Amino acid sequence: MTAILTIVLAAGEGKRMKSSTPKVLHKIGGLPMIGHTVKTCKSSGADKIAVVVGPKHQQIEELLHTVDANIGVVTQTEQLGTGHAAKQARPYWENFEGYVFVLFADNPMIQPETIENAKQVLDKGADLVVVGYEPVSPKGYGRLIMQGDELLEIVEDKDCTAEQQKIGFCNSGIMGFKADCLRAVINKIENQNAQSEFYLTDAAAIARAQGWSVKTSKSPEDEVLGVNDRVQLAQAEQCFQSRMRKNAMLKGVTLVAPETVFFAYDTIIENDVLVEQNVVFGPGVVVKTGAVIHAFSHLEGATVGEGAQIGPYARLRPGTNMAAKSKAGNFVEVKKSDIGEGAKINHLSYIGDAQVGAGTNIGAGTITCNYDGKNKYKTTIGANSFIGSNSALVAPVTIADGAYVASGSVVTHDVEKDALAIGRSRQTNKAGYAIEIRRRWTKDES
Ligand code: UD1
Ligand code: CA
Repeated sequence: MTAILTIVLAAGEGKRMKSSTPKVLHKIGGLPMIGHTVKTCKSSGADKIAVVVGPKHQQIEELLHTVDANIGVVTQTEQLGTGHAAKQARPYWENFEGYVFVLFADNPMIQPETIENAKQVLDKGADLVVVGYEPVSPKGYGRLIMQGDELLEIVEDKDCTAEQQKIGFCNSGIMGFKADCLRAVINKIENQNAQSEFYLTDAAAIARAQGWSVKTSKSPEDEVLGVNDRVQLAQAEQCFQSRMRKNAMLKGVTLVAPETVFFAYDTIIENDVLVEQNVVFGPGVVVKTGAVIHAFSHLEGATVGEGAQIGPYARLRPGTNMAAKSKAGNFVEVKKSDIGEGAKINHLSYIGDAQVGAGTNIGAGTITCNYDGKNKYKTTIGANSFIGSNSALVAPVTIADGAYVASGSVVTHDVEKDALAIGRSRQTNKAGYAIEIRRRWTKDES
């Protein structure tokens, strides 16, 4: 197996995003763009990844190191062009033996198969491969000037003659080099062009002039969608969502209205899960087989067990673990809580920092009062207990197995196993007093 080094260029300023956040940190499916690119590099077999960032991009470096401490980061102090950027990764390519791929961080939708196809062109003998594609409108892209299956040169849009502008086969930005070829051409790149930039794309003509074999491979257009502004960011999001929906359905998940369901990059849904309309999955969600996510639910950082039922209109927040066959019904919010097997929270509740045992029933309107304005406290409810409607459980508090809390209680002390807790003021009925009230009203009116 040939070793692969992938250089990801991410030093551009991304001015058109009009943002104080570096462009490649804007998210798609809850993951920064650069994270998508790095993931793809990894699944396409990169042995080493080096990312070229701009001087003010400390945040990108931090993010990359949380993803993988092994990723190399180099700084390009001045943005003098893609050729100059790739050159900055010299410590990585200088003594490397194998294939060197160069990718753009603002092409987050690229798929491993496309890189694999390009790799095969190198395997078959090419020294340099450029991934081309045919965009609906080629305006703005580098044109691939072909002679048969040989690539003669890449001409940037701004440097194109009128004749060249008509060419529809464009540079996606992805290039693969045999390391020797890269070393032989990269120092020869100059900046005599319309933008006075060092274009990496010039490598094609230089390599050819030196006698290297320069070929192309192809990519579908949606994979090389460049993100330069927020309109394109939304397009990339749409592309990502349609891929996720299709994957989920092909894996056996029913999406009643796929276009209304939104996934995160890491959503895991097992087969035979039913997802109704208008459901949003934030990062960190796992849904086990047989579960149903009813309409208008929002889940993030939560695990939904086998056959569990969520929603409609439920919100599961990070740290929630709904065991098999449990239920969180309409207008129920659960945060950082373990809900035991078959336990039910059917209506209008807030359960936070809690542990709820198997088979327990939490009545409508139950609230765990987990926060005193400064600290958070835990509520522990055992198995097969019953919490009557509209109870307030003031944490820290423990309600043991089989206990019963009368509705409308404010529970401030622990409740022992199988005990009944009633924490509310006693009702008094005054016989005939309603008549007296009505009598007073008629007196006032007369
Ligand atoms: C580039 C290609 C063009 C191709 C198009 C596809 C060149 C010269 N042109 O043009 O042929 O059709 O992409 O989208 O390569 N970057 C740096 N440092 C720099 C300049 C750029 O790291 O000094 C990075 C940017 O962050 C970006 C990538 O390189 O991720 C591409 O740069 P950009 O300026 O967007 O190139 P395009 O003009 O789009
Ligand atoms: Ca670009």
